[in-house]
Amino acid sequence: MAALGAFHWMQTCMILLLCLSEPLPAASQNNYYETLNVEPTATDSQIKKSFRKLAMKYHPDKNKSTDAEKTFREIAEGKHFLVNF
Ligand SMILES: *[C@@H]1O[C@H](CO)[C@@H](O)[C@H](O)[C@H]1NC(C)=O
Repeated sequence: MAALGAFHWMQTCMILLLCLSEPLPAASQNNYYETLNVEPTATDSQIKKSFRKLAMKYHPDKNKSTDAEKTFREIAEGKHFLVNF
C-alpha cells in the first residue's frame, strides 16, 4: 500500500516537472505574436502594419475603456520586443 502511494506521488512530481520545464521565453514571444495578431513568420513590416492598426483601435485617446489601455500597453511592448530597429 505504502509503495503504491509513493508511486503516485512520484508520478505527480514528474508531471509537475514536465509542466515547469516548458521554455518560458519562447512562450512569451508567442504571446506577443498573438497580441499583435500576426503569424510567428511575419516580417518586421507586417508586424508594424498590424501594430498601427491595433494601436489606432486601442489608443487611450481613441478608446476610453480601461481594458483598451492595458491592451495598448501590451501591443506596444510586443512591437518593441519583436521588431528590431
Ligand atoms: C475599445 O476596446 C475594447 C476592449 O478593450 C474593444 O473591444 C473595442 O472594440 C474598442 N473600441 C473601438 C472603437 O475599437
